[in-house]
Amino acid sequence: MSALLRGVLLYGEGDPVDVLVEDGVIARIGADLPVQGTEVVEAQGKVLLPGFVDLHTHLREPGREDTETIATGSAAAALGGYTAVFAMANTDPVADTQLVVEHVWRKGQEAGLVDVHPVGAVTVGLKGEKLAELGTMARSAAGVRVFSDDGHCVHDPLLMRRALEYSKALDAVIAQHAEEPRLTVGAQANEGEVASRLGLTGWPAVAEEAIVARDCLLAKHTGGRLHVCHVSTTGTVDVLRWAKSWQGGGVTAISSEVTPHHLLLTDELLATYDPVNKVNPPLRTSADVQALRAALAEGIVDCVATDHAPHAPQDKDCEWSSARPGMLGLQTALSVVAHTMVITELLDWRGVARVMSERPAQIAGLPDQGRPLVEGEPANLALVDPDARWTVRGSDFASIAGNTPFEGMELPARVVLTMLRGRITAHEGKVCG
Ligand code: DOR
Ligand code: ZN
Repeated sequence: MSALLRGVLLYGEGDPVDVLVEDGVIARIGADLPVQGTEVVEAQGKVLLPGFVDLHTHLREPGREDTETIATGSAAAALGGYTAVFAMANTDPVADTQLVVEHVWRKGQEAGLVDVHPVGAVTVGLKGEKLAELGTMARSAAGVRVFSDDGHCVHDPLLMRRALEYSKALDAVIAQHAEEPRLTVGAQANEGEVASRLGLTGWPAVAEEAIVARDCLLAKHTGGRLHVCHVSTTGTVDVLRWAKSWQGGGVTAISSEVTPHHLLLTDELLATYDPVNKVNPPLRTSADVQALRAALAEGIVDCVATDHAPHAPQDKDCEWSSARPGMLGLQTALSVVAHTMVITELLDWRGVARVMSERPAQIAGLPDQGRPLVEGEPANLALVDPDARWTVRGSDFASIAGNTPFEGMELPARVVLTMLRGRITAHEGKVCG
């Protein structure tokens, strides 16, 4: 099987070239390659990037298949340009054993649209009391290399220390949902002027920053690898800048991610009381949004991760205080990054490749993802129309749930084709099974 992508701009740069994909790899790159005997994709003016890697996806299977399954989440990922996703462990049952992580991994293979890597829980049942069997999960068929209690913070410093020590031995990374729980009891919104005005209990920035600072120090002390999930405040950026100054360039022991929604939306949206805007960590201020964009551009925050969090209508179309936190992200991530980072000239397309593909692949240790667009490399690819404009409709998404905060928004740029090891998984908005 072979395919020829005609007239693409590699990383949006230089002259148009043709890219021949054969036997799962980029076989040739050049001008006017022969079209005979190959499937031709006319891609003039489209930007070719390495397929995206999402370090933070909630696929909800097992347990909440009414909101998302590994198959529907994989379809959403392929449509969004992703070739690998990391499925968070807060399922039911929790992914804290070999049995569950291998189940998720197999289901991902069956769906076959994107590499689904299960994230293993750090603590048994996400309870924060006892370390889960990290070694068994690492050695399982799923080969778990990312561990996280996401949804919950590993707040016990001794457990976090031990987890970081294990991460070294297992060549793994501990992804922390940084939230000091004693500071967020009853919290419903970013602590600040908007929360006060609306009468919502505040989630202070310091609850995130205190844990990030502590964990950076623990990572330094243990030599373990820390990844900070969904950075949301200016203060966290300051802490990360400080922690990064301890190390040299390149791949560092401390890494972090920012979500598309924290790059665009602010707590001013809460005035609508629409729980579609409820998320954890909460939407912050426009000053935080600006600081996060700058930090991503500069590399203080390493990458973009969606925190794709599908929820059932009954868990979202209700009173603010009882609504669940979380929002969809897989099918809008590239466009929100284009809107917040490319159009603003904070990143070029090469920078997008870095934050959506290369860095997340390096952080998770994936050898065949986030690779350069050169001959001989695996054909994990995302083709983007940089000139597209489209209106977000949650009901059109492949996800079962429809809780997108971007509903009705017009966004720039769109993924038109995704390839996983040379096989087209999504094309022109349709999944190719
Ligand atoms: O908003 C969130 N939703 N934040 C999390 O940490 C968990 C996630 C979920 O599982 O819904
Ligand atoms: Zn989280």
